[in-house]
Amino acid sequence: MAHLLDNQVAVITGSGRGIGAAAAKLFAQEGAKVVVTDLDAGVSDQVAEEIKASGSEALSFPGDVTDPEFPDQILKAAVEAFGKINILVNNAGYTWDSMLHKMTDDQWRAMLDVHNTAPFRLIRAATPYMRDVAKADMEAGKPLENRCIINISSTSGLHGNIGQANYATAKLGLVGLTKTVAKEWGAFGIRCNAVAFGYMDTRLTRPKESGEKISVQGKEVDLGIPEKLRGGFEHLIPLRRGGTAEEAAGGILLMASSYASYISGHTLEVTGGMGI
Ligand SMILES: NC(=O)c1ccc[n+]([C@@H]2O[C@H](COP(=O)([O-])OP(=O)(O)OC[C@H]3O[C@@H](n4cnc5c(N)ncnc54)[C@H](O)[C@@H]3O)[C@@H](O)[C@H]2O)c1
Repeated sequence: MAHLLDNQVAVITGSGRGIGAAAAKLFAQEGAKVVVTDLDAGVSDQVAEEIKASGSEALSFPGDVTDPEFPDQILKAAVEAFGKINILVNNAGYTWDSMLHKMTDDQWRAMLDVHNTAPFRLIRAATPYMRDVAKADMEAGKPLENRCIINISSTSGLHGNIGQANYATAKLGLVGLTKTVAKEWGAFGIRCNAVAFGYMDTRLTRPKESGEKISVQGKEVDLGIPEKLRGGFEHLIPLRRGGTAEEAAGGILLMASSYASYISGHTLEVTGGMGI
């Protein structure tokens, strides 16, 4: 039986848990060979093992996307393992919230580093494996393969969000990067889209009081949304509920598949209708 991503190789950052992990599993189910990567080696390895146990191919290559050496290393490893790269999903990220008047330069910089600089460097590092390969194929008169980049944005970027001056700025910056890549690499048949999520059930949106933290570059950052701000959010969503990580992954698959072959530079909102 044919699958949506047969013969495709995908690199998905932050795929050790949450939306990225759901996307890695869905992509594998749809025939892709997946490079799983996360800051946390344990969860990265675990997702890759699960994919392999289900009969698909995966490579775990953990690391910090903000490390300047990381983009070249992971993309080289992907090509060594699977021969090529069709799909790059810039998904790794987190929140480091506080009201603007209390926000530190570290908080500001950390969000731009992980949501803007890292995707920029990863896309730039993909030049030989995506842009240059496509250009050579074109010049040789070969049919172009499905090649695309998907950047994970947020409704916080599109509409702003209290406590997220840093995150909102970065997530909208990613839309500008997406449109620029769509314009520069479209000439080589490479699509670039963003997927902006609303309220998806992961540790980023669970109660802050549950004590989830991310440990990144020597600092511990509290994750989640304070209980008092979470109450009643369903009423802002036409579908009256938050989404699951699997539903988020569905939006990413939609943009990755060849059914989206004429969609580029778009920001797909996966929000249950929130913000319309
Ligand atoms: N959950 C939501 O409602 C929501 C809404 C809008 C956007 N998003 C975005 O979706 C993406 C996935 O988030 P999620 O909700 O699945 O959260 P999550 O915390 O469940 O998963 C994110 C993963 O990214 C990894 N990560 C974070 N910083 C990293 C780094 N520097 N290097 C490598 N890996 C790193 C984490 O270890 C984690 O496993 C993020 O970009 C987030 O901003 C989520």
